Amino acid sequence: MSDSNKHVTWGARFEQGPDDLMLRIGESVSFDQRLAKYDIQGSCAHARMLAHIGILTQSEANDICAGLNKILQNIEAGCFEWDIEFEDVHMNIEQALTQLVPVAAKLHTARSRNDQVATDMRLWFKDSCERIDTALTRSIGALVGLAERNKNIIIPGYTHLQRAQPVSIAHQLLAYIEMLDRDRTRISMLFEQANICPLGSCAIAGTTLPIDREFVALELGFVNDDGQPNITQNSMDAVSDRDLFIDFTTACATIGIHLSRIAEDFILWSSSEFNFIRLPDAFTTGSSLMPHKKNPDAFELIRGKAARLVANVQLIMTLVKGLPLSYNRDLQEDKPPVFDSFDTTSLILETLSECLPGIEVNKENCALAVADPSLLATDVVDYLVLKGLAFREAHHVVGELVALSEKTKIPLNDLPYDMVSAIHPDLDRDWSLVFNIDRALDAREHTGMPGPKQIASRLAYWRSLI
Ligand code: ARG
Repeated sequence: MSDSNKHVTWGARFEQGPDDLMLRIGESVSFDQRLAKYDIQGSCAHARMLAHIGILTQSEANDICAGLNKILQNIEAGCFEWDIEFEDVHMNIEQALTQLVPVAAKLHTARSRNDQVATDMRLWFKDSCERIDTALTRSIGALVGLAERNKNIIIPGYTHLQRAQPVSIAHQLLAYIEMLDRDRTRISMLFEQANICPLGSCAIAGTTLPIDREFVALELGFVNDDGQPNITQNSMDAVSDRDLFIDFTTACATIGIHLSRIAEDFILWSSSEFNFIRLPDAFTTGSSLMPHKKNPDAFELIRGKAARLVANVQLIMTLVKGLPLSYNRDLQEDKPPVFDSFDTTSLILETLSECLPGIEVNKENCALAVADPSLLATDVVDYLVLKGLAFREAHHVVGELVALSEKTKIPLNDLPYDMVSAIHPDLDRDWSLVFNIDRALDAREHTGMPGPKQIASRLAYWRSLI
């Protein structure tokens, strides 16, 4: 049993201190100490508000803020002693502060750890959204760079992992950019949802004391575009709402899913079977057994880590499901998965950004793959449609040409003209002109298509944004 006196914040009604196991299961300081900066910000704003309404004098509030800053310096210097006997980041800081500044015994007036942790997390979410946005923007920049360096290289585009139609490699890289840009939108919406101050909700039902919630919100930067304070509208909801946790982990999971798909394409492209790209040595590893191996570990791990991002969503949802209002201690378990989602998302985005500049595209092999004439079979259909054939009939005609090519083992574009014209009279001698990749891409210049002008303008657009 530990010494109950240590539990100054709530110990009075207890005859016995908590069991060591209670301390171990109850502590969150091992993981919530990373909230220290936000907790101190929140406490300082709260102290200023208490001075504003006359519960503290200005000089008491100044002393408290100075003490809090000193503690923050110690924490950042790594010389603050965290103690699981004080459970969490909030009580660790409060007890250290009270030793330094005895008047800090007034700091917890009109506040509970319930609205305190909700506030800390909202500040953390705002900061984390900004960081993820920066990381996403860097990844977009790296993709733009890779696309610009390989603007003219054409590869087969795949559906069902079967060769479909030719695209520039830039077109595929631009597809990844669209995915990451949607992630940026999701993250910026999350920032807005986080930008509402729950402080003043206290434990569940607010306080009888004459607090000024708007004052605190303004101090902490919970403001709208007009500079007006944003504050939560229901104290019970404010201390039990974990929607941001669900939404944040979901947004991170979506980023993970996007990156896993990008990673998978690069893994395939780097295999001997495709051989479209060479991955940088610095982001691959060798085999302890097979001397020739060069494994795409960075991308495999990006793909693998996406699994934990998906699992973290599950964890938070399961945690909150069926939980009665309002705060329950279960909710302390909300932080590790959210922190893990942030750390993992940051890591995989950074890895992608650093790896892309070292990727080399193997021009010769791309050219070899894209020389497959069947990639332009659909363009032959379009050729017949322009001659007036119904699409379904044109599709059928080209299907017969493909079957003939397979049966005779003659490449589609080399089929003798008498065989071709026998299939349909609208297949004039100029039909073979369709088998020209540049022509095929030049013909695709509507918005969103892989025509070279489209690609150049999209690349210029993204270049101007980053
Ligand atoms: N460490 C707690 C958490 O993260 C802070 C809130 C504690 N509230 C309470 N009523 N015990 O959830």
